[in-house]
Amino acid sequence: MSEYLIEVNNLGKRFPIKGGLLGREVGAVNAVNNVSFKIKKGETLGLVGESGCGKTTLGRSILRLIEPTSGEIIFNGKNILEYNAAEMRAVRRKMQIIFQDPYASLNPRMTIGDILAEPMEIHGLHMDKTARRKRLFELLNQVQLPSDALNKYPHEFSGGQRQRICIARALAVEPEFIVCDEPVSALDVSVQAQVVNLLMDLQKELGLTYLFIAHDLKVVEYISNRVAVMYLGNMIEVAESSELYGHAKHPYTKALFSAIPHASTKGRAGRIILEGDIPSPMNPPTGCHFNPRCWNATEECRKIFPPVTNASPTHQYRCYNPIQ
Ligand SMILES: Nc1ncnc2c1ncn2[C@@H]1O[C@H](COP(=O)(O)OP(=O)(O)OP(=O)(O)O)[C@@H](O)[C@H]1O
Ligand SMILES: [Mg+2]
Repeated sequence: MSEYLIEVNNLGKRFPIKGGLLGREVGAVNAVNNVSFKIKKGETLGLVGESGCGKTTLGRSILRLIEPTSGEIIFNGKNILEYNAAEMRAVRRKMQIIFQDPYASLNPRMTIGDILAEPMEIHGLHMDKTARRKRLFELLNQVQLPSDALNKYPHEFSGGQRQRICIARALAVEPEFIVCDEPVSALDVSVQAQVVNLLMDLQKELGLTYLFIAHDLKVVEYISNRVAVMYLGNMIEVAESSELYGHAKHPYTKALFSAIPHASTKGRAGRIILEGDIPSPMNPPTGCHFNPRCWNATEECRKIFPPVTNASPTHQYRCYNPIQ
């Protein structure tokens, strides 16, 4: 068995844009382009990048909640893009997702007990009544919610508690891999740390593997073993989180991380203000998509998209003129 739980190879997702009276295709957004990465069992890969760079599309494509246009997703050694509906249903139990908005993702008319029981029902787990109840209490306990929560409704809980309910619902089917799509961004700052710590405790206890999408780089650094940076649909750098803070190779990563004070730079790193807007993903610049905003760009950068370079076995980037 490979030490990697999940391996994504050259994954692509293209959204056709239709227009006009006849609904003809007038363009397309390559929301995810040729993205490759691996995550070891029990590891967290953080995923960062500006709004619209394709993080959610990538996360959902890996679970086939959005059908990818190209590439491979190897989960436990098998390419799940070749799975039929029945095989996919079985593997879906092992791959769950937690969303940003715990308000929108819980049915207000269902009790917490029903919300947590639903995925077990779908997958035929703990069908015996006593076993089901035992499992429901176990889940509440795992996410540190009181046991009288089962008969209550989502509106009776705070934002942080609702996210705990969403986490319990994901855990109900005993997953191995969870895509966390900005799971704390909508929560009060004071509650964010508690939910992040809960996710980390659960990871240790249950051996979970995470893809953790976030805007907040501090949160990402805290929870992730490695961090991947996306820009306009492409993964442009991936490395251990401490490495990205101190020794980013791609100018975009450097700019992104320069915005936050950090111990490795003694909080004195000059903040890099990026000039220019994010280009339209429908019509990205040729060559490296970052070249119009890059202070290091040369002729080469305007021609061909940069290939992957290894800075070390755990640090890859796509740039012709990396930061030294
Ligand atoms: N269903 C869709 N049809 C067409 N384009 C889409 C669709 N979903 C996403 N896109 C486009 O794909 C690109 C990536 O969007 P995505 O939501 O994955 O970004 P993101 O990195 O998650 O952004 P945010 O940080 O705001 O959540 C954007 O340009 C978006 O407009
Ligand atoms: Mg998103």
